[in-house]
Amino acid sequence: MKISKLFNIEGKIALITGATGGLGSIYAEGLAENGAIVILNGRNKSKLDEIVTKIKSNGYKAYASVFDVTNLGEIESAVRVIEDEIGPIDILINNAGINLRAPLDQFSEEDWDKVIGINLTGTYKVSKAVVQSMIKRKTGKIINIGSMQSELGRPTIAAYAASKGGVKMLTKGMAVDWAHHNIQVNGIGPGYFKTDMTKALHEDPEFDSWLCNRTPSNRWGNAEELLGALFFLSSDASNYVNGHMVYVDGGLLSSV
Ligand SMILES: NC(=O)c1ccc[n+]([C@@H]2O[C@H](COP(=O)([O-])OP(=O)(O)OC[C@H]3O[C@@H](n4cnc5c(N)ncnc54)[C@H](OP(=O)(O)O)[C@@H]3O)[C@@H](O)[C@H]2O)c1
Repeated sequence: MKISKLFNIEGKIALITGATGGLGSIYAEGLAENGAIVILNGRNKSKLDEIVTKIKSNGYKAYASVFDVTNLGEIESAVRVIEDEIGPIDILINNAGINLRAPLDQFSEEDWDKVIGINLTGTYKVSKAVVQSMIKRKTGKIINIGSMQSELGRPTIAAYAASKGGVKMLTKGMAVDWAHHNIQVNGIGPGYFKTDMTKALHEDPEFDSWLCNRTPSNRWGNAEELLGALFFLSSDASNYVNGHMVYVDGGLLSSV
């Protein structure tokens, strides 16, 4: 078996939520450059159109799909439009996410609901809408984006950690329910990457130096370094891999 065939994603239709963000846009570009037809989601149409135009100008196939991952009605109608106008979704990447920071005793219920609603419940809602046609076609790949906080706590981000720990267990739950339909559900847990979400951290010299000392690779990750795990989990190379998280973290989780 040729490796190029095993990892081939040419012609596959991939929906990436939160694709206007630092990591989601890299996932979309990487999949498109390797022949996938990518559908980029976010809530901001002009931001989405900008990235879609960039991908298309490089000769690849890309579309925008505006919906909020917390709104099941919006999700279901967006998925219907995608399936009718582009084709059935082969690969779903549940990447949309937010982080809000405050010590838990001062964390508002509204913010708790927002973080859990987008990161965890959003993953469930989009998957539930997309999996229906995967079940009928007996094929599909779902990749849920976790975090170091799928495994570890940190001060001021208990809601985020609860949501990402939930994403890890939801990944296992989905894998168990859907594996017999030949659907593989796995997750990627990125370490620390410089995006808008981590701006407060990478602009803080104290955190920057703490992180580089704490991480065995002694540095932040480059977003493109997530693509290896993404291609593995999106392709036939992972056809018997189900319910696992792949941590791309420079060794951070392996060290205290
Ligand atoms: N950066 C890191 O170091 C890191 C580490 C571990 C895990 N992660 C995870 O990786 C994912 C992407 O993070 P990032 O760093 O790329 O963050 P980012 O740059 O802030 O991007 C977040 C994305 O999520 C979208 N989004 C937020 N709420 C949404 C909603 N309700 N519906 C649809 N889209 C929504 C945003 O789009 P709009 O606001 O335009 O709608 C944006 O495209 C997140 O799940 C994050 O938890 C990141």
